[in-house]
Amino acid sequence: MEVITAKSAGFCFGVKRAVDTVYELSGGEKKIYTFGPIIHNESVVDDLKERGVGIVDDLEQLKDLDPEDTVIVIRSHGVSEEIYNTISGLGFEIVDTTCPFVKRIHDAVLNASENGEEILILGSADHPEVQGIMGWCHGPVQVIENVESAKTYKPMSDRPITLVSQTTFNHKKFEDIVEILILSEYNVNVMNTICNATLTRQNEAEDLASRADVMIVIGGKHSSNTRKLYDICAARCEHTYFIETLDDLNLEVPKSVRLVGITAGASTPQKLIEEVQKEWKN
Ligand code: F3S
Repeated sequence: MEVITAKSAGFCFGVKRAVDTVYELSGGEKKIYTFGPIIHNESVVDDLKERGVGIVDDLEQLKDLDPEDTVIVIRSHGVSEEIYNTISGLGFEIVDTTCPFVKRIHDAVLNASENGEEILILGSADHPEVQGIMGWCHGPVQVIENVESAKTYKPMSDRPITLVSQTTFNHKKFEDIVEILILSEYNVNVMNTICNATLTRQNEAEDLASRADVMIVIGGKHSSNTRKLYDICAARCEHTYFIETLDDLNLEVPKSVRLVGITAGASTPQKLIEEVQKEWKN
């Protein structure tokens, strides 16, 4: 029996970089706090807590900390300019693990708005990444999330418009919205800032599932990207299983299995993926 794990299973480049950085910093001289949970994965957050890494959820909570001996880590989603400047203005050392692909969007909206343009962001207005991007705009900015809002979209000014998107925005939705805006009378400069990490993970999972006799998808039950991976795999492989922990591996699998495929959602730690892989190989 062969066991193949998709290359893109688990953390994307930006999240891995952020999580690795916090592990490297933990146990040092200064106290480490992340601004918001570094990742939506309880086992990773708990493990970091045991290593002394704390979480601050807002600027208010910084008041209880001593800037002299505290490092604040900014996670891969990034933060607004105001939050960044406030943390640094209070005298904290900042370790910024904003994903470079997100940082590129911050720089783009900052430049465009300083050049007098209005900004339009495609994404969820309440997502921390989008709030961070909004916070680097020095002028009018709006967020739209779907085709319906694109149809009724009205700019706030008569300036040229720069459009960017949340890095995890759906490609198809992006194209549909852009088409509507291009057909409109507005002067829109489109920047496709979708990150391909999610798409690559989905394409690899689909390819592996179409060859595998059994497909294991690892991730949190509430993780929407893992559920999407599961749906993609289940459409290709009849024996597809969604597991959250090693304990769920007690599966009823067909006897004549030649190839087992493994993939995992964006917040699944490498350690868990390796453990599942090892279980199958034994
Ligand atoms: Fe991950 Fe950065 Fe893309 S955090 S999803 S590699 S934008």
